[in-house]
Formats: sequence, structure tokens, C-alpha cells
Amino acid sequence: MASPLRFDRRVVLVTGAGGGLGRAYALAFAERGASVVVNDLGGDMKGLSKGSLAAADKVVEEIRSKGGKAVANYDSVEAGEKLVRTALEAFGRIDVVVNNAGILRDNSFARISDEDWDIIHRVHLRGSFQVTRAAWEHMKKQKFGRIVMTASASGIYGNFGQANYSAAKLGLLGLSNTLAVEGQKCNIHCNTIAPAAGSRMTQSIMTEDLVEALKPDYVAPLVLWLCHESCEENGSLFEVGGGWIGKLRWERALGAIVRQKNQPMTPEAVKANWQKICDFENASKPLSIQESIGSIIGVLSKIDSEGGISTNRTSHEASADPSAFAEIIGHKLPPFYSAYTELQTIMYALGVGASMKEPKDMKFLYEGSTDFSCLPTFGVVLAQKPIIGRDLPEFPGVSVNLGKALHGEQYLELHKPLPRSGNLKCEAVIVDVLDKVSGLVILLDVYSYLEEELVCYNQFSVFFVGSGGIGGKRVSDKAKVAVPVPNRPPDAVRSEVTSVNQSALYRLSGDWNPLHIDPNLAGFAGFDRPILHGLCTFGFSARHVLQQFGDNDVLRFKAIKARFAKPVYPGQTLQTDMWKEGNRIHFQTKVQETGDIVISNAYVDLLPTSEISAKPLSEGGELQSTLVFEEIGRRLEDIGHEVAKKVNAVFEWHITKGGHTAAKWTIDLKSGSGKVYQGPAKGSADATFTLSDEDFMEVVLGKLDPQKAFFSGRLKASGNIMLSQKLQMILKDYAKL
Ligand code: NAI
Repeated sequence: MASPLRFDRRVVLVTGAGGGLGRAYALAFAERGASVVVNDLGGDMKGLSKGSLAAADKVVEEIRSKGGKAVANYDSVEAGEKLVRTALEAFGRIDVVVNNAGILRDNSFARISDEDWDIIHRVHLRGSFQVTRAAWEHMKKQKFGRIVMTASASGIYGNFGQANYSAAKLGLLGLSNTLAVEGQKCNIHCNTIAPAAGSRMTQSIMTEDLVEALKPDYVAPLVLWLCHESCEENGSLFEVGGGWIGKLRWERALGAIVRQKNQPMTPEAVKANWQKICDFENASKPLSIQESIGSIIGVLSKIDSEGGISTNRTSHEASADPSAFAEIIGHKLPPFYSAYTELQTIMYALGVGASMKEPKDMKFLYEGSTDFSCLPTFGVVLAQKPIIGRDLPEFPGVSVNLGKALHGEQYLELHKPLPRSGNLKCEAVIVDVLDKVSGLVILLDVYSYLEEELVCYNQFSVFFVGSGGIGGKRVSDKAKVAVPVPNRPPDAVRSEVTSVNQSALYRLSGDWNPLHIDPNLAGFAGFDRPILHGLCTFGFSARHVLQQFGDNDVLRFKAIKARFAKPVYPGQTLQTDMWKEGNRIHFQTKVQETGDIVISNAYVDLLPTSEISAKPLSEGGELQSTLVFEEIGRRLEDIGHEVAKKVNAVFEWHITKGGHTAAKWTIDLKSGSGKVYQGPAKGSADATFTLSDEDFMEVVLGKLDPQKAFFSGRLKASGNIMLSQKLQMILKDYAKL
């Protein structure tokens, strides 16, 4: 049997607990260990007669006689502070507030006096506000609180003669919904009940039998559960009575767009679409203001981009049938082009945090660098148009709401390094649709080509909130799967502070969603301020991995997979935790200030250095410098010992072609008789030189003075540059071709 729900050490305040429902709650809480404040002003049902202390006292007496803990409070709920003070003075804290007190002043609408209107609002709505506000700060401090509001079926559905009462009762639902949103992060939960119970309030409208049958005891267990610390329910509404409980929710028709771009919106268009506007089949069930507003914002961009498409599909055209997925899977989107220049390449690098502070980043920021390169993750930006531009098509049978699309996961695989500028042709195909119940996931594969050559492949997993639950499959063999990080401390950690302008900068790379720059819109979407693009964090993390384990060499970058877990605010510090397992670097990214994991289950696959040299070049074919290095290697076989003694240094060469590193060579003149091999230095290099294949040949042939090449920026040198003197000697002596 499940263990009993206890309230030991919890302090519960029940308003209007001198009779009816409130009394049943107070007794039930006390029976399960709570210390209870029994509030009741006494008075009659209309709130007219003078208060009698007896009502609250009697319930307190009842509780104490059973060994429970209770004190009485006789104030009106309008004096909320006093009620809470009673709890604090008697028991030292306040954990639960059940706003239950109530009166009736029924009259048909035209006969409601100002007084009858006001007193109903004062007792029900203002009273609940006063009591809850008095308890709120204490709950926030202790990071625990449970609140119940008491609404009524009259408010939900309307009831003759109860205009004042139903208005106040549904007002309580609005109050509860907002408290649920505001309280969530402090573990304060607020729910609303609409009870049906026999009490003095319902005596006049129910038969005696019914009053007897609908015992308050059949409502109390719901209130106790909602107020228990183990109950996660928040912001919900329940009808309850006679032993039955049901949750209510909002439903919204698919509706119709009745406006066209650059056209006035007319009442005639509303009339013409009335059936669709009111059609609840396949309705959505928005759970939050974000979902509600999000879809409306989606409509705006839809009207804007489509020049005025008229209506959403209605239930007549749509069916909640997973077989409709078959029509989508394999659907090819029209090909599109992504053109970019060095400007976009650099802008992207700045957007994902590349900085002049870090000399190794210069190759991403300065087009004059001999090894100027495009960051590999820019490959996602080149392919993202269908997602950013909301270009996903509509399919009969499946309703996805573009306004509710979330970027769930991303996979990118590079087949060649991205050129420093170019115009890539992209072909996108929907490879699968998954039903995750709370939403649909569409897997969109995008292949990007430079002329006929495949440069990169992306898989976007896009999650459409609220469109699922229609019995479709949950997993796909087409999905590039996210992989949990190893269960041990990370092998390496890199952290970097993002700039407060990070999202303003990143959006220049093409994702213009105002959520990342407009405080009002971010507020609407439920954020304190504009958030960083998930793909911006993704770019930061990929840079960290490449720096840490890939020698910052874009040629080493093969693939990346990441799951977007939580948002990041610009200005926060990103911490990438990394685990090396062969050529796979698992990683997760945290916000250092909060400890929140924002990218999870992620990895980068690196190419082993041996494979890089074997990789065919994207431009230019065979390198001339290869012959020179091979020749140096051959000659060292004869006289290496002598040269190594003279030079005693290791040189690493980065030979570039078409703007990116095409080969790395190491001339090791430190150990034994020296050796020459392809790839970076196995230990550490004393000096590293970067120059193009052509310039290398000119230096070797004596046509280009290395010093001049250095000062003009054609040759980059790092480490012990003075060693270059000795090197010149080697090149001259041993590579005369
Ligand atoms: P009830 O009349 O038995 O209990 C209400 C209690 O609130 C009374 O003891 C009364 O003295 C107290 N009270 C009134 N004004 C107060 C004030 N200003 N300060 C402190 N206490 C005050 O009625 P019942 O049926 O137990 O109702 C409890 C709550 O449930 C009320 O909010 C009512 O509107 C609501 N409700 C009840 C339904 C039912 O079927 N019984 C249906 C829908 C809602």
C-alpha cells in the first residue's frame, strides 16, 4: 500500500473553516499531522449577521479533542495579514493556504446592487488576494508553499442569479494561474478547485438527500493531495464532488487566418470563416501563454511570408491519423542556395565568440591570415533556411504549428572543410516524423553541395509542441542519436564569458528571430530578457572542443551532435565539459552561474591526423611542397645525425591551399638522425610556420625572402622564431630541386 500522505511539521491555514467544506479540510489536515489555523468570521451565508466566534472555536475544539494541533482566527479574510500572523505566532511558519471562505448575494443581474457586487468581490477575490499575499514572502523564503483557490461551476459555466459571484469566482482562477507561473521557481504551487458539496450554501438549491450525499469529505482528499509536498501539480483547475474528480483545461479551435498580406481585415472575412473558427475537432490545448501567443506570432510570419494564405486546415481536411506521416516522409523541399562571402564567415566567428584576445582565433577573423578558415559549425547556418524561414510545408492529415516549433537537436557532418566563401546548393528532405506524445518531431536532412561535391550534411530535429499523441512511432533509425556523456569527471573543461551583445551579434548570421533581441517579445515568451540562440552556444562549444582536442584545425572536424536543453542569457558564462574517447569527444555545456546544463548528450567526432593528410583536397589537387618534404626526409637519411646536432629543434609546418590548411608536416631535427613526417609534431614543436603551398615553393626556390614573407603576413611563425635562421639553411642545403 502507498505510504500515507502526512503533513507533520506543516502549518496549514484554512479560511472559512468554521463549517461546510472548510471544516472538512481543517479536520483532515489535522488528522494527518498538520498544525491548523481555523479561520472563520462566523456570520451568516450572506455575510450579514455579526460574527460568532463559536464556529471556528468548535472546529478547533474538535481537532484538539482528537489530539490534533489547531488555533482559531476570527478575522475576515480581508485582513489577510492578521490570519497569517496567527499562524506565525502559534506555529512559527506558514506552508499551506486554502482560500475557502465565501458568501453569497444572489440576485438576477439587473437587481445586483453595488454593495452586493462589492462585498462578493471583497470576500472571495480580494480576501484570497490579501491572505495569499501575506503568506507569499514566507513561502518564497522557505522555497515551499501550496495554495488552493476555490472557484465554482457558476464561474466556469455561468449561472442564473450569480453574476457577481461567478465573476469573482473566475477571477480567482486567473489569480491562481498567474501565481502558479510566478511561484513555480520557488516551489510554490497554486491550484483551483470548483467543488460541489452539500453545505449551508447549497441547501437552498439542492434537495436534502443531495446535501447529505455530497459530503464535504468527498472534496477534502483532493485539497490535501494538491497541498502535499510531493504533489507537482501547478496551475490546474479541478471539478470535484461526490467522490469524483476531473481536471479541466482550455481547448482552442484550429481556427482560421482571415487576413491577407497588405489587405484590410474585414468582418465579412470573419463571417465567411466562422465554421472553421469554431471547429473544435483537432483543437489544440494551449497550456501556457507562450504556447498561446507563440502560435499567433507564427501566424504573423505566415501571413507575411506567404503573401496571405487564408486558412488553416480544419478538421474536415485533417485527420489525427499517423498514417498521414507516410505522405510527409521522403518529402523533398525545393532546393535553395546559400551564398556567403568572407564577411559572413568572419561575422559568424565573432558571433560564436572567436576573439582577437586568442591568437589562435585570428585565422577565423582575418581574411589576410594565410590559414584563414571558416568555422565548421557555420555549416548549420548555411542549411538552416527551411527552419529559420519557416519554410516547412503543410501536410494534409498532420497539423503542425510553426509558431510552436523548437529546435530540439542538431547533427552536422563535414565532408570537406567549408570554403572561405561560396555559394552552396542545399537540398532538404524530411526523413522521418516521430510522435513524442507532447509533440511531433520532424527530422529534416539537408545536404549542401559546392558544384557537384557534397560539402556538408545536417540533420535538424524540430519539435512541434502539442501536435503529438496520435499514436505514431517514437523512434527512428534515420535519427542521428544523441549520446549521454561518460559517467566520470570530464577530461577537460573550458569556460568562456559570452558578451551581453552576443545574441545581437550572432543574429547577423541570419537568425533574425526577435526573441533574441526584443525584451518585450522575450517577456511574452516567458523569459526575463532576450535569450541567446541555441546554435550560438553550439558554436561556442564546438570551438572549445576543437581548441582542446583538435589543435584548432578545421580539417580535424568531422561531425557534431547536440541536444538543446535550456536557454542561455547573453552575458552568462558557458562551460564546456569534455570527455575524450578515441576520436569522439563527448561534451555537455553548462551555464556556470546557474549550473544548468544547456547542451546535453553531445559529441564531436574528430578525424585522426593520419586521415587528414589522406583527405583529398578541395582545391588544387597535389601539393608541390609534398615533394620538398619527402626530399628533405630522404636526404636526412644520409646526413641527419649531423644536421640534428647542429639544429636541435622541431619544426611544424602548416601548408595552406585555397585559404585553409591542406597539410601539416613536421621536421624533427632534435632526436637521433632526425626525421620528416606528415602531421603535427608528436611532441611539442619549437617553431610553427604557416604559409601557402605556392609561397613555400617560392621560399624554397629562393624567389621569396622568408623575412619579407613574414613581414608582409604571407608567412606566419610562432614559437622560437629565431630558429628560422637555421631552417633557411636546411631548406637551401637540402631541398634544391
Ligand atoms: P459555507 O457557507 O458552509 O462555508 C463558508 C464559510 O466561510 C462560513 O463558515 C463563513 O462563516 C465563512 N466566511 C464567510 N465570509 C468570511 C470572511 N469574510 N472571512 C472569514 N470567513 C468567512 O459554504 P461552503 O459550501 O463550505 O463553501 C466553501 C467555499 O466553497 C466557498 O468559497 C464557496 O463559494 C465555494 N463553493 C461551494 C460549493 C458547494 O457546492 N458547497 C460550490 C462552489 C463553490
